[in-house]
Amino acid sequence: MFLCSQDSKCPVSALLAAGCLLVLGILLAVAVIETLKNEDRIHEALNPPQTPPCCNQSGPIEQSSIVLVESFPLGVDYGRKVKAGVNLFEAWKDLLSSASKQIDVASFYWCLTGEDISVNSSSDTPGREILEEFKALPSRNVSVRVVTSIPTLAPNSTDLKALKEQGVQIRRVNFGRLTKGILHSKFWIVDGKHVYIGSANMDWRALTQVKELGVVIYNSSALAADLQKIFQSYWVTGRSNASIPDPWPSDYDTDINEERPLLLNLSGVESKAYITASPPVFCPDSRTRDLDAILSAIRGAQDFIHVAVMEFYPASKFFHHHGYWPVIEDALKRSAVDRNVSVCLLVSCGQETDPAVWPFIRSLDALNSPSDNINIAVRVFVIPAGNQSHMPYSRVNHNKYLVTDKVAYVGTSNWSADYFNTTAGVALVLSQDASGSSFHQQLRAVFDRDWSSRYSHPLADLHRIHDCAFSTSAPSQHET
Ligand SMILES: *[C@@H]1O[C@H](CO)[C@@H](O)[C@H](O)[C@H]1NC(C)=O
Ligand SMILES: *[C@@H]1O[C@H](CO)[C@@H](O)[C@H](O)[C@H]1NC(C)=O
Ligand SMILES: *[C@@H]1O[C@H](CO)[C@@H](O)[C@H](O)[C@H]1NC(C)=O
Ligand SMILES: *[C@@H]1O[C@H](CO)[C@@H](O)[C@H](O)[C@H]1NC(C)=O
Ligand SMILES: *[C@@H]1O[C@H](CO)[C@@H](O)[C@H](O)[C@H]1NC(C)=O
Ligand SMILES: *[C@@H]1O[C@H](CO)[C@@H](O)[C@H](O)[C@H]1NC(C)=O
Ligand SMILES: *[C@@H]1O[C@H](CO)[C@@H](O)[C@H](O)[C@H]1NC(C)=O
Ligand SMILES: *[C@@H]1O[C@H](CO)[C@@H](O)[C@H](O)[C@H]1NC(C)=O
Ligand SMILES: *[C@@H]1O[C@H](CO)[C@@H](O)[C@H](O)[C@H]1NC(C)=O
Ligand SMILES: *[C@@H]1O[C@H](CO)[C@@H](O)[C@H](O)[C@H]1NC(C)=O
Ligand SMILES: *[C@@H]1O[C@H](CO)[C@@H](O)[C@H](O)[C@H]1NC(C)=O
Repeated sequence: MFLCSQDSKCPVSALLAAGCLLVLGILLAVAVIETLKNEDRIHEALNPPQTPPCCNQSGPIEQSSIVLVESFPLGVDYGRKVKAGVNLFEAWKDLLSSASKQIDVASFYWCLTGEDISVNSSSDTPGREILEEFKALPSRNVSVRVVTSIPTLAPNSTDLKALKEQGVQIRRVNFGRLTKGILHSKFWIVDGKHVYIGSANMDWRALTQVKELGVVIYNSSALAADLQKIFQSYWVTGRSNASIPDPWPSDYDTDINEERPLLLNLSGVESKAYITASPPVFCPDSRTRDLDAILSAIRGAQDFIHVAVMEFYPASKFFHHHGYWPVIEDALKRSAVDRNVSVCLLVSCGQETDPAVWPFIRSLDALNSPSDNINIAVRVFVIPAGNQSHMPYSRVNHNKYLVTDKVAYVGTSNWSADYFNTTAGVALVLSQDASGSSFHQQLRAVFDRDWSSRYSHPLADLHRIHDCAFSTSAPSQHET
C-alpha cells in the first residue's frame, strides 16, 4: 500500500472555496489597492526611485505567472521519464536577462566558484556564469543590492569583493549580534515585479551538487513590493551598529498575510498568496510568522500533509543546545491521530547529516500504524555521493516545502527551533483553485515523484545506504 502518493478524493470544499474566492476577491481588491498606495510611499521613502508606482491598475487582480524551479545534483537519474520543474539555472538566467532596473538579493552567503572552497570541479561552470551575469548588471544600469549574513559559511568568498568592484551595493547583516542567529533567507526581487524564493543559496553547488526547490512569480508587483519590505528590514539592519527597531515603523507593516492574502491570477489559476517571515523580532504584527503559517497549514489539512525538508529536528540545535521543541511535531501527530490526516515526511540524509536528528525521525516512524488509523510515514532521501564525495555541503536534498490538500508552502528554513526563533527566513504560502495545472498540483506531483523514487528509503533499509550518516545507527532489522 502506498499511502503517500495515492490520489486523494477531490475535496468537495474546493467548489465552495471557488465561490468564496470570488466574494473575497472583491473585498480584497479594495484592500490591495489601499496596500499598494501605501507601498508606493515606502518605495520612495526607503529606496532610491527605481520602478514606476506599481499598482494603479484597472483590474482588481494582477495577471501573473508562476514557475516551480528545481535543480538536481549531477548523476541523479530517476530511471524513468519524470516531471520536473524549470531548471533553476535557466530560471536565474531568465530573471537576470529580464532585469532592466534593479535586483535585490538576500542569500545566506555567496560562493559561486570552486576556488572559494578549494574545490577544482568543472561542475562550478553554471555558478561562474551566474556570477559573471551579476557582475555585468551595473554596466547595464541595473542597480544591484545584496544582503548576506554574519556569521557566514563562506568566510573566504571572493564573489562579494568582485561584485563590489563592479558597483554592487552589499550589506552584511550581523544576525549573530542581533538575534544570535543567521540570515538564512534566499530570495530575489527583480524590477519590483518578479520574485524568486527557494532553498538555493548563491552557491555553485546549488546548481549542480545539491537538490533545490523554489518558486518564481513573474509580474506581481504587489507580491514584490511586499517582499521588498522584508529585504528592506535586512538592508537597514545591515548598517554598522544597527539595532532592531521595536516596534518596526509602520512602513514595514503589510496588508498581505494569512488573514488577508493577496488575490492574484497565477498562470491562469486564481490564487491566494502571502509571504511569511522569521524571526519574530523581524515581523511587525501584521506579518504572518513563518512558524504560524506552517502550523496552520498542518492544522488546516483534512486529507494529507506531505512535507519535504532537509532536516526535521524537534529541538534547538544552536541556541539552547538540544533543548526539546516539539511544536511542529505535536501539530503533525495531532492531525494524524485526532483527525486521521495522512502525514508523509521526507527528510534528507547525506554524509554530513547530524545523527542527532535520527532518534526523532525514528520516533515519528514508530507511530505509524495504519490499522489504528494513524498514518505517519517517514522516508529518507539520499543522494549518492558517487565520485563527487570530495565536496563539502553537497549531495543533499535541500528542499523545504509542504503540500497539503489545501495549501502549498515553499520556504527556506529547516524545521528546527532556531530557524523560527533566531534565524531569518521567508516562505511563500499559496492556496489555489483545484486545477490540474496549478502550482499546487505540480508541487504535489514533485513530492510523489521523490517519495516513490529510487532515492527515497524506508528507515528499515538505511543500514545498507552508506551515503547517509544514519547508516551506522540504523538497525539492520525492524526493532521492537
Ligand atoms: C490612477 O492614477 C491616476 C493618475 O495617474 C489617478 O487620477 C487615479 O485616481 C488613480 N487611480 C487609483 C485607483 O489610484
Ligand atoms: C578560509 O581560508 C583560511 C586561510 O586561508 C583557511 O584556513 C580556512 O580553512 C578557509 N575556510 C574555508 C571554509 O574554506
Ligand atoms: C583543475 O582540474 C583540471 C582538470 O581536471 C586541471 O586541468 C587544472 O589544472 C586544475 N586546476 C587547478 C587550479 O588545480
Ligand atoms: C546607463 O546610464 C547612463 C547615464 O544615464 C547612460 O549614459 C548609458 O548610456 C546607460 N547605459 C546603458 C547600457 O543603458
Ligand atoms: C509579464 O508581463 C509582460 C507585460 O504584460 C508580458 O509581456 C510578459 O510575457 C509577462 N511575463 C511572464 C513571464 O508572464
Ligand atoms: C559602532 O560601535 C563601535 C563600538 O561599540 C564604535 O567604536 C563605533 O564608533 C560605532 N560605529 C558607528 C558608525 O556608530
Ligand atoms: C486569469 O488568467 C487567465 C489567462 O491567463 C484568464 O483566462 C482568466 O480570465 C483570468 N481570470 C481572472 C479572474 O482574471
Ligand atoms: C482514515 O483515513 C484512511 C485513508 O487515509 C481511510 O482508509 C480510513 O478509513 C480512515 N479512517 C477513519 C476512521 O476515518
Ligand atoms: C563520475 O561518475 C559519473 C557516473 O556516475 C561518470 O559519468 C563520470 O565520468 C565520472 N567522473 C569522473 C571524473 O570520474
Ligand atoms: C539545516 O540546514 C543547514 C544547511 O542548510 C545545515 O547546515 C544544518 O545543520 C541543518 N540542520 C539543523 C538541524 O538545523
Ligand atoms: C528563542 O530565543 C529567545 C531569545 O531571542 C530565547 O530566550 C528563547 O529561549 C528561544 N526559544 C527557543 C525555543 O529556543
